[in-house]
Amino acid sequence: MIEKNISLKAFNTFGFDEVAEEFTRFDSSEKLAAILEDNKNKSLFILGGGSNILLTKKLECLVLKNEIKGIKLIEDGDDFVVVESGAGEVWHDFVLHCISKNWSGVENLSLIPGSVGASPMQNIGAYGVEIKDVFAYLLAYNIASGKMEKFNAEECKFGYRESAFKQTLKGLYVICHVAFRLSKKALKNTTYGAIEDELKNMGIADPSIQDISNAVISIRKSKLPDPAVIGNAGSFFKNPIVSEELVNQLKESFPNIPNYPSTDGMKKLAAGWLIEQAGWKGKNFGNYGVHEKQALVLVNYGGSTGKEVYDLSTEIIRDIKNKFNVVLEREVNIID
Ligand code: FAD
Ligand code: EPU
Repeated sequence: MIEKNISLKAFNTFGFDEVAEEFTRFDSSEKLAAILEDNKNKSLFILGGGSNILLTKKLECLVLKNEIKGIKLIEDGDDFVVVESGAGEVWHDFVLHCISKNWSGVENLSLIPGSVGASPMQNIGAYGVEIKDVFAYLLAYNIASGKMEKFNAEECKFGYRESAFKQTLKGLYVICHVAFRLSKKALKNTTYGAIEDELKNMGIADPSIQDISNAVISIRKSKLPDPAVIGNAGSFFKNPIVSEELVNQLKESFPNIPNYPSTDGMKKLAAGWLIEQAGWKGKNFGNYGVHEKQALVLVNYGGSTGKEVYDLSTEIIRDIKNKFNVVLEREVNIID
């Protein structure tokens, strides 16, 4: 059944009250195919958990909510498994399922909101792991041909918060299943950021994957606003990748500027640090603003619009360019 003119407020973690002209759900690739057969040539928007979108106006299209469920063991090797998940599974539930089976690889990605199906879109990452590190393959429905196609990691062209599905293949496929190759031996990826300190605080010397998940959850809860309480979509901007030359120039004025090695001799800067130094952290514009604990997160305190938050992000980009000669890129998908 296709619903008409429904509010998407409950379907995006910013909580913006924009309307979808048409809205329906599918829980299998067969249902998806049938819906597309009946709605040829309509413009479409594929919706997962709505945790990485900024709605700026009415969606004059057919919104398709992915609800394909099911987790299947595809291969059971001596020291690894390949496990395939329906795209409509909640990402964190999938992580908890893997932990309960002692399959290691995604525990550092605990508590990232959203669906399994969206995880390859921007190659989700946190605490030293990106899904490209554990990715086996995905199955995606080609909207034009009506055929299901299999993609390996190389074909997905994963990068930092990037994939082919955000670039050359944008809007052409619906991701229906994603498979991961996980280790039966605990990988214990604890070197990133505050994980080791957090484990120490918890009094744990030899962590299980459950302990690592708990540590990540605890760090995330201390920094990031819970979308159920304050509307947000996580990091609004990507951390900028810049030349070493620019970092050296910036160090002359800002000796403590955080910077990390990136690929091809480039450096990654911390956008949150730049935004904080520029004085935006915690700035409140009535019902929207910049989060007080994490300057990379823009928030809707209730009743603001995507347009207002988008305009704020434009102001921030302009200011960071003026102050640091660094161009910030939005991470959140702007839907306009
Ligand atoms: P949606 O927001 O529904 O969709 C995102 C985009 O993907 C849209 O363009 C949509 O059309 C497209 N899409 C969704 N599903 C499909 C599909 N099946 N087929 C084709 N296209 C599809 N991200 C990180 O990487 N690391 C983090 O640490 C992190 N932390 C976050 C913390 C908070 C509090 C929040 C709110 C967000 C955070 N995010 C993080 C961002 C977000 O959780 C991820 O980007 C997540 O993968 C989005 O999933 P979703 O199902 O909500 O996608
Ligand atoms: N920082 C500040 N001020 C701030 C925020 C951060 O100075 O307000 C500094 C921190 O002190 C630290 C550095 O910036 O030196 C990095 O901060 P943090 O560890 O909090 O991580 P981040 O770079 O802000 C990234 C991801 C997150 C991911 C975490 C953990 C991006 C755009 N963001 O944030 O992903 O969870 O690392 O791995 O890469 C998301 O994509 O939505 C997201 C939340």
